[in-house]
Amino acid sequence: MPQAVTLTVNGMTQTREIQPTQLLVEFLRETLGLTGTHVGCDTSQCGACTVLVDGRATKACTVLAVQAEGAEVTTVEGLAKDGELHPIQRAFAKEHALQCGFCTPGLMITAVDFLGRNPAASDDEIRHAIEGNLCRCTGYHNIVNAIRSAATEMKTTAVEPKVAVEVKR
Ligand code: FES
Ligand code: FES
Repeated sequence: MPQAVTLTVNGMTQTREIQPTQLLVEFLRETLGLTGTHVGCDTSQCGACTVLVDGRATKACTVLAVQAEGAEVTTVEGLAKDGELHPIQRAFAKEHALQCGFCTPGLMITAVDFLGRNPAASDDEIRHAIEGNLCRCTGYHNIVNAIRSAATEMKTTAVEPKVAVEVKR
């Protein structure tokens, strides 16, 4: 029996009647038409379906849409803001970090979550962070370069606080 679900996707509230068995990735691709999120396996291994759910990288094939009720979801379509590509998107282009591009949306989303928590990550830490995202084309070298490059840009463009905050000890 269809069930109503409401999610915020890329900043827009979306309410739909769906089957309770519908996966989040199906909701995004088939119900909302956001086909930038890909499906590359049926074993939860490839990471092509990765989106941000409440800020954390999540394989959207492992979550029912109704389980994400009330959540804030960001897909690759939501990374660019005001016509400006996100630093991770610019870095993937600059470092030639994609070939067929099938894995790219999931990798970029994983990187955005990871860099938000680890802005000064080492290459080893980057490689560890993306181990749930499979790429059959690139050999990963340029992907790691792109994520490191995006980290640098995100650090240099980070907005500094306008007033000094007193630290209580
Ligand atoms: S489609 Fe492969 S992990 Fe989700
Ligand atoms: S660029 Fe083809 S799978 Fe990664």
